[in-house]
Amino acid sequence: MQIFITYILILCFISPCLSTLSNVGTTNDTYNVMQYGAVGDGKTDDTQAFASAWSKACKAGGMSTLVIPSGKSFFVRTLNFYGPCNAKILIQFQGKIIAPPKDGWKSGAYFISIERVNGLTIDGNDQGGVDGDGSTWWDCKSCNRPGVLYFHACNDLSVNKLKISNSPKAHVSVNQCNHATFSGISIDSPATSPNTDGFDISFSTYVLIKDSNIKAGDDCIAINGGSSFINVTGVYCGPGHGISVGSLGIKRPDDRVSNVYVRNCTFTGTQNGARIKTVQGGSGYAKNITYEQIKLQNVRNPIFIDQAYNARLDDTSVLVSSVTYRRFTGTSSCEFAINLNCSSSGCFDILLEQNNIVFPGKTASAFCRNAHGTATNTIPNVGCLSK
Ligand SMILES: *[C@@H]1O[C@H](CO)[C@@H](O)[C@H](O)[C@H]1NC(C)=O
Ligand SMILES: *[C@@H]1O[C@H](CO)[C@@H](O)[C@H](O)[C@H]1NC(C)=O
Ligand SMILES: *[C@@H]1O[C@H](CO)[C@@H](O)[C@H](O)[C@H]1NC(C)=O
Ligand SMILES: *[C@@H]1O[C@H](CO)[C@@H](O)[C@H](O)[C@H]1NC(C)=O
Ligand SMILES: *[C@@H]1O[C@H](CO)[C@@H](O)[C@H](O)[C@H]1NC(C)=O
Repeated sequence: MQIFITYILILCFISPCLSTLSNVGTTNDTYNVMQYGAVGDGKTDDTQAFASAWSKACKAGGMSTLVIPSGKSFFVRTLNFYGPCNAKILIQFQGKIIAPPKDGWKSGAYFISIERVNGLTIDGNDQGGVDGDGSTWWDCKSCNRPGVLYFHACNDLSVNKLKISNSPKAHVSVNQCNHATFSGISIDSPATSPNTDGFDISFSTYVLIKDSNIKAGDDCIAINGGSSFINVTGVYCGPGHGISVGSLGIKRPDDRVSNVYVRNCTFTGTQNGARIKTVQGGSGYAKNITYEQIKLQNVRNPIFIDQAYNARLDDTSVLVSSVTYRRFTGTSSCEFAINLNCSSSGCFDILLEQNNIVFPGKTASAFCRNAHGTATNTIPNVGCLSK
């Protein structure tokens, strides 16, 4: 009898799967990729171990914690974390994941895809991250380069303190996600890396990006069609091409962005600061966009509406209206610190207040074309606005 009980105890101890099965929906279990065969030496292919750990964590009930342990580098080919999941999932992302170089890439648009997982939390704890090995790709501008991290249809998402570097293309893509928060994210790629947007947001609502540091070769944040209630605060951008709405009208004819609020951000040595870019030939709108409390250091186009991005012949355009620029301070590296270059149909309700942008050693000025609105307490003077 005693032997029998001991046997049962040992069985329970060594078999977490059995205990999971018997408690579906009630347990809070941990799935460490090391227990699923990951090596974490930066060379061995750990793809299968991650896939198995994800599958178990997703199918379990209750709250599942997927652990990617610190102090290790995991080489994986590609990761697909697909839902829907039974469990609510936390990924303790404390180790490093590295992508294959270009020659080892099979196919696909993203290195790590996370799709249809609601209520997901990812915590990098300022240690974990992903390196996309982008330098093996950047020379090939015509290649179908993959992005590093793709979230599709993930509602109630929270991603904290994660580092993403050297993406072949966009670092973090957010598509069809509602209620997503990114906080303490560090993105790092060189200024010369092509199309390496920091964040690329599309068809998503209630996205908050805060307290993050973005160094990229393209837009630090691009807010694309189908997005509204996008809130960006405490972001340092540079190098990079700024925090941009658009480009709108380029992929789809009818692109709509509204209710964007960018506050307390710093741009250092960037190509643009607050940019709205639309292509000719598109339709749709960009409206109710506010940029405020923005610090500029040596920014080429601090305030920029560019409605002739990728100029085409057709002159229909995306309607730009209700755009506020408030409390911009710092330096421009070009004469037109304020450039409101609208299409022939015009931009309306542009409001500038309490801005002070200087062009060191020279005189900054404002350029307007078909721009309607008002400016108060703004340097440089924006006398070119129409009523
Ligand atoms: C699982 O975790 C959740 C959230 O932390 C908690 O509310 C619940 O009581 C836990 N359940 C068990 C069985 O530990
Ligand atoms: C944006 O996020 C900040 C920080 O969480 C918050 O204080 C603010 O209310 C939000 N603003 C909007 C317009 O949602
Ligand atoms: C602005 O953002 C920085 C960086 O995240 C933060 O430390 C600071 O408290 C914020 N200031 C205000 C007034 O929100
Ligand atoms: C503009 O957007 C903000 C969020 O950034 C929202 O709170 C406000 O209601 C919107 N205003 C209009 C007129 O839609
Ligand atoms: C404004 O846009 C037109 C294209 O429509 C371009 O030719 C011109 O150089 C732009 N002006 C400025 C100051 O950016």
